[in-house]
Amino acid sequence: MTDSDKSPAPGAAPDAKGILIRRHGLLTRVSHWAWVIAIFMLVPTGLQIFNAHPTLYIGQQSGFAFDNAVLEIGARQGTKGPEGYTVLFGQRLDTTGFLGLSGGATRPDAVAFPGSMTIPSFRDLATGRVVHFFFAWVLVGALALWLISALFTRHWRALVPTAADVRSLPRDLTAHARFRFPRHRTYSPLQKLTYFSVLGVLLPLIILSGLAMSPAMNAGWPWLIDLFGGRQTARTIHFAAMVLMALFVLIHVVMVVLAGPINLMRSMITGRYRIDREAGP
Ligand code: HEM
Repeated sequence: MTDSDKSPAPGAAPDAKGILIRRHGLLTRVSHWAWVIAIFMLVPTGLQIFNAHPTLYIGQQSGFAFDNAVLEIGARQGTKGPEGYTVLFGQRLDTTGFLGLSGGATRPDAVAFPGSMTIPSFRDLATGRVVHFFFAWVLVGALALWLISALFTRHWRALVPTAADVRSLPRDLTAHARFRFPRHRTYSPLQKLTYFSVLGVLLPLIILSGLAMSPAMNAGWPWLIDLFGGRQTARTIHFAAMVLMALFVLIHVVMVVLAGPINLMRSMITGRYRIDREAGP
């Protein structure tokens, strides 16, 4: 079965509920769930690694002699006791109870991201790093698998936005804002644009900025670190891309729930998806 085969599923005649089609090929589904597992392990282990030095900089270097921090999370003694703070582009925010200082008054924990958001939940940089690097390769493998199968089955064409998609984007945005999600054979323009940005831009950016921080890669591909404008900038880009990815996942899951979770989840598990009888292309 291939992704380009959008014919009705065998034995599935059109009925009042719509027409059952084959939507996702086996390799698309396998790679999707592999990168879901990878992302769900990479984000909390990444936050564990970030907690070891919770400041992000721009440029090649960091230290007391430089004033190039763009984000800093920490704890300090305030007038009413210990408080957590976050400094983002020079703007100081009181984030007591969440960032910098969490755990409540009885068991205050001066850590950037709270234990509920990290793996392991306690300070353990070594384990965080080992697990992070393992799932980074799972992510690379899943993306490579998706890419090879998408090229082979020509599924990539379903995700690349066309000029017509860009033109009908405002209409699609209005439909989304009104919680109208018609069940078409193909992705909506907004879906195409989002999936294309995630698979074609965000995931490669996360992988390349991660590789740019690796000392082994610095020896093999010294141009990579220059491409990102330095190790510290690569770390900042890696973090910012992670935040965008977390936002995407949040909105993506909300959209699946709003647009018909049973039909959509079935399509990503068994490959079969029910479209509206009157649905266009
Ligand atoms: C528990 C979390 C997730 C759930 C429940 C979920 C569910 C789904 C479902 C049901 C679809 C099919 C949509 C359709 O046919 O219209 C889909 C597609 C997709 N999802 Fe997710 N997803 C999750 C996490 C992620 C993550 C972490 C990523 C980030 C890489 C991601 C990226 C995508 C992409 C790129 C597609 C399109 C795949 C293709 O057509 O090749 N999803 N997801």
